[in-house]
Amino acid sequence: MQQYSNKLRSEGKSIGFVPTMGYLHEGHISLLRASKNECVVSVVSIFVNPTQFSPNEDLAKYPRDFERDFSLLEKEDCDILFYPEPSEIYPPNYQTYVVVDGITNVLEGQYRPTHFRGVTTIVNLLFNIVLPHKAYFGQKDAQQCAVILKMVNDLRMNLEVRICPIIRESDGLAMSSRNIYLSDAERIDALVLSRAIITANELIISGERNVAEILNAMVAIINRAKSSSLDYIEIVDFFTFEKVEKLFKGKKYLILIACKIGKTRLIDNDIITINS
Ligand code: PAF
Repeated sequence: MQQYSNKLRSEGKSIGFVPTMGYLHEGHISLLRASKNECVVSVVSIFVNPTQFSPNEDLAKYPRDFERDFSLLEKEDCDILFYPEPSEIYPPNYQTYVVVDGITNVLEGQYRPTHFRGVTTIVNLLFNIVLPHKAYFGQKDAQQCAVILKMVNDLRMNLEVRICPIIRESDGLAMSSRNIYLSDAERIDALVLSRAIITANELIISGERNVAEILNAMVAIINRAKSSSLDYIEIVDFFTFEKVEKLFKGKKYLILIACKIGKTRLIDNDIITINS
């Protein structure tokens, strides 16, 4: 892959890269389409990265369907699928990890302490193998996007990171490979995440600037679903991920939710800009 990317680069061809863990959905496809719009050659990787799962998480049962992924990518005219074996990426003597500090210690980092170290390590490895000019990530994993942007910026990595909008089902549920775990009843319950975000937006549009009030209204909606169990619901500064108590004109924030629906842990978020 690296040799092939070097060849493409020497021919002056731009390389767009979409790293995924497979079980592709419209969210991934939107990243591929963005890459195809902007780059000459588009590479998608499928690799269920063991280092970003902790021992109590769903690595073994993470959904996989290579045949389906392959035909989806073929239909979308993806140029290259990079599909390495875990032992190729992490041979027995593998010893190097990449850690972003600070921003990884809050929210997802608190609930999944080793997760971002695994993400930054694999993304670094994949960047070094695929050698992209541009790499595409989905806003659905808002903190992952911020962590990757920080890593790329701090390490002066020679590529551009493009963040693409969340893709939702018609009823509002953010697309995720993990949605497949939901039973029919849980699938309905899962709508409380996007509904809580809609409610927050409505309150903000109507002039509410007190974060505690907004969060209380959101929690009330989440609690309506019998199968829900909230990990966190926060409004943070868009750039620093620090919690805020009030919203101010001209500032950008993120509303972030992580919530279990039954046994399935879902995340969702929205960007808020206060204009007046
Ligand atoms: O967002 C994902 O699917 C994964 O975290 C990524 C970026 C492919 C790294 O394994």
